[in-house]
Parts: sequence; structure tokens; C-alpha cells
Amino acid sequence: MKFSRVKGVHDIYPPEVYVYQKIEETSKEIFRVYGFKEIRLPIIEHTELFQRSIGATTDIVEKEMYTFNDRAGRSITLRPEGTAGAVRAYIENGLYNLPSPQKFYYMGPMFRYERPQAGRFRQFHQIGVEAFGIAEPRMDLEVILLLQALLKRLGFNSLIFELNSLGCPECRPRYRERLIEFFSQKIGAFCSDCQRRFEKNPLRLLDCKVPNCIKERTDAPSILQFLCEGCIKHFEKLRTYLEDTDITYTIRHDLVRGLDYYTRTIFEIKGETLGAQSAIAAGGRYDNLVEEFGGPPTPAIGFAIGMERLASLIKTELYDKGPKAYIAFLGEGAEKVSMKIAESLRARGFWVELGTGGSLKAQLRRADKLKAEYAIIIGEEELKRSVLKWKRLSDGSEGEVMEEEITKVIS
Ligand code: HAM
Repeated sequence: MKFSRVKGVHDIYPPEVYVYQKIEETSKEIFRVYGFKEIRLPIIEHTELFQRSIGATTDIVEKEMYTFNDRAGRSITLRPEGTAGAVRAYIENGLYNLPSPQKFYYMGPMFRYERPQAGRFRQFHQIGVEAFGIAEPRMDLEVILLLQALLKRLGFNSLIFELNSLGCPECRPRYRERLIEFFSQKIGAFCSDCQRRFEKNPLRLLDCKVPNCIKERTDAPSILQFLCEGCIKHFEKLRTYLEDTDITYTIRHDLVRGLDYYTRTIFEIKGETLGAQSAIAAGGRYDNLVEEFGGPPTPAIGFAIGMERLASLIKTELYDKGPKAYIAFLGEGAEKVSMKIAESLRARGFWVELGTGGSLKAQLRRADKLKAEYAIIIGEEELKRSVLKWKRLSDGSEGEVMEEEITKVIS
């Protein structure tokens, strides 16, 4: 019996997994200096949590959730994203009683029943942050700077950063009405998805990827013309901050998000080479969600990075390193000494692989394949004199050293 993986999921193993590890390690370093603490959230939540936060008429809730009844008949959903669970945990654990702001990060698998294609999986991984308690745009800036610092540390300097404001419950309804008016005049020209959505969620029509829909909506009104005074101020202040910190951004007044909880600032980071699934990271403010879920009024902002998409832009070779040393031995006596030396080097933190015995040539070939930095060679002759022969594989330089002095060579 042979099994294959479920459609739309993938195994992550060496060398690709090194890139994921690098992204995780780098993220943790950045989170530490920005004061974001880890929160580990359940993978399963009550279905209603997502329906009420992401929104009943979104693609995610309408058709992408992995939902099932547990044995007691409760409707349970595999999390399609992390924000809803973070908000639930924030309220349920009374984290609002702690000094504000409370800043969290999480890493882990998310599940969406989407049509699999390059950059789109049914089980994918996000690294996300959520900052609770600060309404002012300086927290928007902090979160954006954190994301930029993280991407820069991973070697990205020219990703596209798109920004918009979605307004608030005070100003967005006016824009919504105006949009409905705009679309209703020519709704027949739009695709069936757009036609179905336009009354319930007209903002989603700005996000449809069908070429004809894009063409038909080119002169759609811009939300930025409908923002209330508070939202304009917030947006302008954030723009000033971004300019002061030399962050290059583009305003995309038709940028919307596939989740309904956002207010004011929203943003996306895109890679030029990723094609249709180009968003590497995305996020924004959700100032009303904590209160809607029964917590005290608590503004919040966050984002999530799609690890698969980010990893696809990083060259595996960069992090596909081999062991520090490969110990090739010739003969039984040398095998014993090799094992002892390997252990003592490992205890000092070096990654060491032990040879297979057999011919020296075959062992050196294996050291090369493993991308070892050094080969250490122990034969009868070396054994007698308590020395080790070493060879640096990158340039072929070699020498001999007393056994106990080997770290002088390989450190
Ligand atoms: P999102 O835009 O739905 O936002 O997802 C964030 C990122 O996850 C996307 O930009 C993309 O890189 C990645 N992603 C989403 N779906 C898939 C998929 N099927 N396959 C591979 N990668 C995918 C959120 O999830 C919000 N919770 C972000 C947030 C946090 N907003 C505020 N706080």
C-alpha cells in the first residue's frame, strides 16, 4: 500500500527546510528587539470565531474553511489565519489587564481549501504579529518597520510595499453606498462572482482578478475621497512617518483585503517575480474586533507573512551548509580514535560527520558531497604519531596538527 500526500499540502525537508529555519530564526531575532513575545495558539477553533471576524461573505468563510463536527457535534474549523485566534486568546486570558501595548508573534500552519497552484497551498505557514492597545499611527509604523527590518535581514531590498486606508465604521458606509451605485450601473459587465457579491460586499469587487472586471472598474471611486477627518489624519500622519524613515511605498486606493475585520491602515508586500500569488505579507489595523468579541475597546494592528512565498524567493544554496568536519579513517584503531575526536568536537559545538571507513578516496568523495568544510584524515601513520591530517575542501589546502590542537585549525 502506497500513500501520497493530501492535495495542496507539502512536505518541507532538507535542503529547503533550511530556508524555513533561517526565516524563523531571523524573525525571532527581530521580534526580540521590537519586544514582540511568542503566543502559541490552537490550530482548531470554534467555526463561529472565523465567521464573525473574517466575515461571512468572504471567500475564506464561504468556501475555503476546513470545517467539521467533532464527536460532540460542535462545529470546529482548522484555523485559516491567526488574527481571530489571537484576539480570542487576548480576551479569554484577560491579557488586556497587562500593561499596554501587548505585542505578540506566532508561527505555524494555516489551512484554506483553495485551488492549489504555485504559491498557493491548502496547508501553508504564516509568521504573524499582532500588537494590541495603541491607536496612534506610531504603532502602524513600528509594525511596518519590523516587517521591513525582517525582510531586509533576509536580503530583500526592493520589494513592493502597497498602502491604503479602509476607513472606519463612520466613513466606510458612505463609500460602500457610492461603490454600489457605481457598480449597479454596469453590473452586467462583471463576472458572476462580482455580481453575486456586489450588494453584500462591494469592496471585494475591487480585488477581482478577472481582466474584464479590472477594466470595467478603472474609474471606480476611491475610498480616500470618503475618509472621515480622523481617518484622514491617521493616514496622513503615517505617511509622514514613512517618509521620515525613508520607506518607499505606493498608495493603492483600490487595495482591499480578503478579510472583513480591517479598519484604517492596510498594507501588502509584494514580490515582483511571484505572478498572480504575489503577496508575501499582508496586514492592517482592526480597531474594533476586540470590542466586538466582548473585550474592552482595544485598537490593534498586525500582519502575516506567507512563509512558502517568502521561501520561494530565497536561494536554498545560501543556507545549505555542510558539516564543519568530516573524519575519514583508515583501519580499526583509527576508527576508535575518530569516534573519540568526533565526540569531543561535537561537545565544543562543531557539526562533525564520521567517515564510513573503506577507501580514502571514497570517504573524501563523500565529504565533498556533504559539503564538509574540512576533512580530517586518520590513518595508521597518524595514529602512531598522535597527529591528524587535515584538508580544507574549498581550496585544497592541507596540513598536519597535533590531535589536541585540531580546533586551532577548524575553528
Ligand atoms: P492574508 O492576506 O489572508 O492575511 O494572509 C497573509 C499571507 O499569507 C498572504 O499574503 C500570503 O503570503 C499567505 N497566504 C495566504 N493564503 C495562502 C495560501 N493558500 N498559500 C500560501 N500562502 C498563503 C491574514 O491571514 C491576516 N491574518 C494577516 C493579519 C494579521 N492582519 C492583521 N494581523
